[in-house]
Amino acid sequence: MAERTDQHEVSAVGDTTLLRLVWVSRAAEPLSAQELDRIEERSRFHNEAAGITGLLIVQAPHFYGIMEGPGARLLARMEVIITDPRHCRVHILREEPATTRRFVNWRLFRLPGVASPRPDGPSSIDFIIDLSHRLG
Ligand SMILES: Cc1cc2nc3c(=O)[nH]c(=O)nc-3n(C[C@H](O)[C@H](O)[C@H](O)COP(=O)(O)O)c2cc1C
Repeated sequence: MAERTDQHEVSAVGDTTLLRLVWVSRAAEPLSAQELDRIEERSRFHNEAAGITGLLIVQAPHFYGIMEGPGARLLARMEVIITDPRHCRVHILREEPATTRRFVNWRLFRLPGVASPRPDGPSSIDFIIDLSHRLG
């Protein structure tokens, strides 16, 4: 099951405040290309309707998400996402007010999976944390 994080539970922001969330999770089971297509299609539909922009990186078995949008609507969508049984261990790495949007649309990027992370190279989790810091 997906986990709620403390950071998520203590959120109290107004609907008009622009908020940015950075999160990671792990696929509960390997997802087929068709299932990813479906996630992409539903995400684009709902995110556009809610004014949410950002990205979702899929690098099996991990997902890395950055989402930005009006606070209440973003958290409402995140509520749906974290309870999605197709992934688990959802951790919100950053949750912060944003002054400007860094993404124009919401996009999904599929990266080749890594069988075993390279011990000498930056892991994807470091990459997404670094990216989120550089976004400011
Ligand atoms: C890793 C992952 C990321 C997702 N990201 C989003 C998202 O950004 N926006 C969204 O609306 N749904 C996202 N979803 C899908 C939602 O959990 C949910 O299935 C979907 O919004 C339901 O849409 P429907 O009620 O129209 O079928 C994601 C699911 C997974 C597994």
